[in-house]
Amino acid sequence: MKILILNGPNLNLLGVREKSVYGTESFESYFEELKEAFPAMDLSYFQSNTEGVLIDKLHEVGFSYKGIVFNGGAYTHTSVALSDAIKAIEAPVIEVHISNVYARDAFRHKSMLAPFCKGVITGFGLESYRMALQYFERMKPKQIGFGSKK
Ligand code: DQA
Repeated sequence: MKILILNGPNLNLLGVREKSVYGTESFESYFEELKEAFPAMDLSYFQSNTEGVLIDKLHEVGFSYKGIVFNGGAYTHTSVALSDAIKAIEAPVIEVHISNVYARDAFRHKSMLAPFCKGVITGFGLESYRMALQYFERMKPKQIGFGSKK
């Protein structure tokens, strides 16, 4: 089962950036834990700070992968183009956030992406990613496969 974890802007600085909000672990190190925890999954990880590159990645995998776990960072709250990309592809997308966006600034309460995602997991630290993968692991392929996104 091919699953992509996709991180947006500033998430390359996990472990360095605002540690009180985002923790002290880098995503690269956490990704190793995830690969061990889900040995049956074909997991890949990609990060970009650039909106268009994230869109290209969604297009690239969105018609062949079984699912995408996406932390759009600040683009979550602003990007019509990323919401259109999620709408355009077939693979189900789970929106994740490390922090609880609803306990933070009002501008983080709005997600442009959520209406086109399977669901949203927010506020569990890096464990938000693990919870999203558990969803893909537990669902039967036909329940999460193409055409079942909406
Ligand atoms: C974030 C929350 C966003 O509001 C913020 O812009 C981020 C990270 C999170 O994972 O908590 O960059 O997506």
